[in-house]
Amino acid sequence: MHPRAVIDKMKIVKNIEELRHELALVKNKGLTVGLVPTMGALHEGHLSLVAASAAQSDYTVVSIFLNPLQFGENEDLDTYPRRLETDAELCAQHGAQLIFAPEASTMYHPEHATFVHNSELEEKYCGKYRPGHFRGVLTVVAKLFLAVEPSKAFFGKKDYQQAALIKNMVRDLNWNIVIELLETSREDSGLARSSRNEYMSAEQRNDAAAIYRGLEAAQKQYENGEREVSTLLELVQKSIKKSSGKLQYLHLVDAQTLLPLKNKVEKPAVILVAAFYGETRLIDNLELGV
Ligand code: PAF
Repeated sequence: MHPRAVIDKMKIVKNIEELRHELALVKNKGLTVGLVPTMGALHEGHLSLVAASAAQSDYTVVSIFLNPLQFGENEDLDTYPRRLETDAELCAQHGAQLIFAPEASTMYHPEHATFVHNSELEEKYCGKYRPGHFRGVLTVVAKLFLAVEPSKAFFGKKDYQQAALIKNMVRDLNWNIVIELLETSREDSGLARSSRNEYMSAEQRNDAAAIYRGLEAAQKQYENGEREVSTLLELVQKSIKKSSGKLQYLHLVDAQTLLPLKNKVEKPAVILVAAFYGETRLIDNLELGV
């Protein structure tokens, strides 16, 4: 019998001791553990990460933790959708064995004072507009890695800068964890799936597909041989301008270092974009030549 078959029903655990106890049983059997860190309000994109982990690991842990440390004062921590039961059911259907759903007080001691941050990339792009955001992300992901000690962890490419920061953290701290990045999951219109899409009206949601249309237009020109950074970015800008979107940032960067490319695209690159539709802030990206 495959070892996975001997694991019974999915469990939901709330504290780290219980989590470690469950995982010790699994690891003592020699099984590999995959981790999918999430903040809940799961959509198809998250579920494809769960399914990928289930396909590549013997045992899949999904963490569902709305991490206060990565939200700024005027951000949407209070209104962020919460639906643990539905999320847990979906995770079970997609092959997860355990949900780790701690309270904030479990993750953060009242005198918590130790943080993980990246001195190079943390303050650029999204970090420029969301001060402290990536420090919150890296700190919680580090804590989840220490609590679960997975062989692999799964993230989506939609959060491109986050993914790069997590990969750099694993490299810099010599963590023996493979980071698997999955392609961005998109709605039929091309809009990147995000738990925050729920904040938009049907009209705004439809309108926000302009971001991807712009990215696709740039990709098409790139494939036709266009290499001028300003020309490629203009296509994205124009598309968003035609919609009700308000651009927050738009950059064409080196896919490896995430440093901005100034004149021509001569190596694998990625377009990073953030825009507002109403009050909803959306991010997206597209790789060129990767
Ligand atoms: O991408 C997210 O949902 C969050 O930033 C993460 C990685 C789960 C950390 O809270």
